[in-house]
Amino acid sequence: MNDPELYNVANSMQKNAAVQCLNEYAKKMNWKNIGDSAIDLGCGDGSVTVILKKYMPSNYKKLVACDISEKAVKYANEHHSDEVTIFKVMDIQGDLPEEMHSAFHHVFSFYALHWIRNQEKAFRNIYNLLEEGGDCLLTFLGYAPLYSVYSILSQCSKWESWLKDVQKFISPYHDMQEPEKKVTQMMQEIGFRNIDVKCKEMRFEFDSVEAMKNTIKAIEPFDMPKDVYEEFMQDYYSVAQEIGVVEINNNNIGDTSINCSYSLLVVCASK
Ligand SMILES: C[S@@+](CC[C@H](N)C(=O)[O-])C[C@H]1O[C@@H](n2cnc3c(N)ncnc32)[C@H](O)[C@@H]1O
Repeated sequence: MNDPELYNVANSMQKNAAVQCLNEYAKKMNWKNIGDSAIDLGCGDGSVTVILKKYMPSNYKKLVACDISEKAVKYANEHHSDEVTIFKVMDIQGDLPEEMHSAFHHVFSFYALHWIRNQEKAFRNIYNLLEEGGDCLLTFLGYAPLYSVYSILSQCSKWESWLKDVQKFISPYHDMQEPEKKVTQMMQEIGFRNIDVKCKEMRFEFDSVEAMKNTIKAIEPFDMPKDVYEEFMQDYYSVAQEIGVVEINNNNIGDTSINCSYSLLVVCASK
């Protein structure tokens, strides 16, 4: 995450999805109510970690939230840390620090695991973070139109050099038929129990073209300078319209809202 300030004001879609999932799944978590400990993987600016706190027992003992981005962790610590909530730099697909093994009752991750190339290592880490009997709630992107537009633009001569690494940023589940089966099988092999994987169809309405562009900018991994990005975004928007991945609604006072559909994998399991 290069710009946590922008992400903080352009993450309504992600916050909305986190609230929907927590409303449905938080009551199914095996809360201990004895001072629970939890970790939030890929926390970004920390605003979804703040939402998560509201669903945890009020006497929770420890909430560690981590991200690979130093900038995001610095921002989150400055804005959202307290005596029992800390943010730290950690790579979800790296080797876990010794003290984190079996250290948590619950593992959460929202909108982050689709960034991970080594899915098996990340899921093994999640398993190892949990104490015996602990559980996890994970959400990450499956099919998302954002990726289809990136793929098309990566084949245009104008954008191919900027988007040369595009495959690294596309969810491993984007083009997969029945990704639930793949995730379930991987988790079974690792040793998870009570595995529940759903692929949910999500819909989000951006209330302006600007809002959609900012959301995409906030998660854009190509590090384009501002002037290049503005032109890129114009092409992005044209392609999105052409291939019909966004639905544009114009009202009679000249406002435009944009509907966008995507699929979100929601995983619940225990150790
Ligand atoms: C779209 S943000 C999601 C942030 C937050 N969880 C939310 O729901 O708004 C994805 C985050 O995953 C982080 N990330 C990507 N790869 C990671 C890795 N290998 N280890 C830890 N975090 C990673 C990114 O830096 C980014 O902050």
